[in-house]
Amino acid sequence: MVRIDGKAVAEKVLAETKARVGELARRGVKPGLAVVLVGDDPASRAYVRSKDRKAAELGLHSVKHELPAEAAQGELLALIAKLNADPAIHGILVQSPPPPHINEAEVVLAIDPRKDVDGFHPVNVAKLAMEDESGFVPCTPLGCIRLLLEAGIETAGKRAVVVGRSMIVGKPMALLLMRRGPGGDATVTVAHSRTKDLAAVTQAADIVVAAIGRPHFLGAEHIREGAVVIDVGINRVADASVPAGYRLVGDVDYDAVAPKCAAITPVPGGVGPMTIAMLMSNCVLAAERISGP
Ligand code: GUN
Repeated sequence: MVRIDGKAVAEKVLAETKARVGELARRGVKPGLAVVLVGDDPASRAYVRSKDRKAAELGLHSVKHELPAEAAQGELLALIAKLNADPAIHGILVQSPPPPHINEAEVVLAIDPRKDVDGFHPVNVAKLAMEDESGFVPCTPLGCIRLLLEAGIETAGKRAVVVGRSMIVGKPMALLLMRRGPGGDATVTVAHSRTKDLAAVTQAADIVVAAIGRPHFLGAEHIREGAVVIDVGINRVADASVPAGYRLVGDVDYDAVAPKCAAITPVPGGVGPMTIAMLMSNCVLAAERISGP
């Protein structure tokens, strides 16, 4: 069984990204990332803080905007309009999920697609579906594909099952796995909460991507001997024995599943570090595109 080291691959991506930041600096361009958080969800706050910190570490111009939970839709749209027009900002990210009164679809639509480093804007979603490489691909599924490539896992012709159909992970992951070329060309099935006999579906898979957001949802009975498992879940479960009062577990019961797998990503230290690394890479890509050849 190979334990896929997401931290090591993320370091490699960050080193590549840092070199590209250096190239841009020689041309007088400093990539700028704006991260927007509405409300005070503790997990979102932690993600936003680490995105901001990592961007600063890489030498990006990083700005963090924190709006109160009761901020109005118009206030958020006005901020996005300002960031769209700001030449020092190349990437804009609004942390999801926002509070319930915010219309997230309208917010995503307001972001300039050329600065949409999350790849959530309909223009970028369409470009991914059309295999047009001029768009942005969502960071988490992009990181999953990079992990498969770095681990030397063949995807062409393989049966891949994506469990989860979110716009952030499940749908783009399915599109990436079926895309032509390296890390793609798989035969893809998308399973979700209404799938009947999930175990029979996932048992047929050479590659399982778990993105349902439920702790230890997939167990040994779901995974075929010799399968590859990518666990996207980052679930907080109460644990009084640690100072934080919680620990992070994946969507996959790692201890039960790992012995059966050809390769598996742990939680933490698997997909998690890749998301931030790909975000940095996407932000630098935005700066490269906006600043021209
Ligand atoms: N919430 C969970 N994952 C993500 C992500 O990749 N981007 C944003 N903006 N919000 C998220």
